[in-house]
Amino acid sequence: MTIDTRKLLEIDRNTVFHASTHLKQYANGDIGGRIITGAQGIRIQDSEGVELVDAFAGLYCVNIGYGRTEMAEAIYEQAKKLAYYHTYVGHTNEALIELSDRIIKMAPAGMSKVYYGMSGSDANETQLKLVWYYNNARGLPQKKKVISRDRGYHGSSIASGSMTGLPLFHAHFDLPLERIKHTIAPVYYRREDDNMSELEFSKYCAAKLEEMILAEGPDTVAAMIGEPVLGTGGIVPPPEGYWAEIRKVLDKYDILLIADEVVCGFGRLGSDFGSIHYDMKPDLITVAKGLTSAYQPLSGVIVGEKVWSVLEQGTDQWGAIGHGYTYSGHPIGAASALCNLDIIARENLVGNARDTGAYLQQRMRESFADHPLVGESRGVGLLHALEFSSNKAKREHFDPNLKVGPQIAAACLEQGLIARAMPHGDILGFAPPLVVTRNEVDDIVERTVRAVNKVTDKLISSGDWNAK
Ligand SMILES: Cc1ncc(COP(=O)(O)O)c(C=O)c1O
Repeated sequence: MTIDTRKLLEIDRNTVFHASTHLKQYANGDIGGRIITGAQGIRIQDSEGVELVDAFAGLYCVNIGYGRTEMAEAIYEQAKKLAYYHTYVGHTNEALIELSDRIIKMAPAGMSKVYYGMSGSDANETQLKLVWYYNNARGLPQKKKVISRDRGYHGSSIASGSMTGLPLFHAHFDLPLERIKHTIAPVYYRREDDNMSELEFSKYCAAKLEEMILAEGPDTVAAMIGEPVLGTGGIVPPPEGYWAEIRKVLDKYDILLIADEVVCGFGRLGSDFGSIHYDMKPDLITVAKGLTSAYQPLSGVIVGEKVWSVLEQGTDQWGAIGHGYTYSGHPIGAASALCNLDIIARENLVGNARDTGAYLQQRMRESFADHPLVGESRGVGLLHALEFSSNKAKREHFDPNLKVGPQIAAACLEQGLIARAMPHGDILGFAPPLVVTRNEVDDIVERTVRAVNKVTDKLISSGDWNAK
């Protein structure tokens, strides 16, 4: 390590509170750090000159790829013209007007307005407030519970962290909030009854949801939130018919559907939105990440007409809505979103997510379907996961202490590849930028094969595992 890197990392260890990190081990230098100094296309570089292929697009967000000078120019031009003004009481800016009109035209039918934030977490926080306000305005003050799913991910603030269905995000933070409930995750691979078809499993998930609604009392349940494809909980596309079955149950009990499109929105599945891809017919949509490809922090809550008309009535009754962020509708965020959406349209990146995505799915399945360590190779568009299993036929889990997923992610790094060890189970996730080419997919798959084989050999030779 060069002296400069070492010195900078020392200051970092002394001053930066890192997300999702073992705080003491990092502060003590027991786990390494990396200073990212530049990036281009699907590759990032560090201060030691190491180049890595980023097959997770940062945190599935840099959809147009790194280093787009056009984005830097759009941000610069907007900053020169108008770096900031707020959006309280009818104040607006040209970039925001153009962006909102564009989002509403792109979004699934029936969407009306966009409220802006800075992150997926704060947008989901807004969602919860809107749902509560909506039912207060309808004179249904008891109807406030929100059902999320086990293994769902919706952020890590108080409300969004409660809606997240991963124990790591609840434990020791006194979450989830009382009004947030979790129903079963639609993970067909983990079904208990082997004989169930996908459609039967979807009906079973819907029946479990209905059971929960009835147990809680339908007049206490306001909304359900779900990602079109479960993301951080393991990258799991929904089983056949899942959203149609869920929608039926929600309609029966007058319950809103919030589609959390933070990962799926703006092309990742090969459709503009995941809710279009799966015909979810949501009432509210959350967007972030792909809206600006992370060149600026920007999120949005897209409000459907049904909810909007009630929010309007609420303000007739009570006056201006008590919700606002200083940076809501930030002009630099809006300008970067417009430039990002231009790039996505001009380069047909949604089409690329569909076509090159299909190629990624095929290459991964061919390479891993018969691999003894891989229980399932699954995905859609440019989202893919490999789930590792100690017994393929029985779909058994490895002993979590072996940390098979993190070992494989580390072996990928040795191959110069970033793939993400997902926080739940031994699952390796892939979500490359939407600009990825077939040659780059080949390269990603080949590096992954080498990494998986290396860990397989290590597990066998150490006696930790007998391939079954
Ligand atoms: C589906 C989903 N919703 C919400 C979030 C939270 O977004 P943020 O990290 O910007 O707060 C994420 C982040 O990964 C996400 O994947």
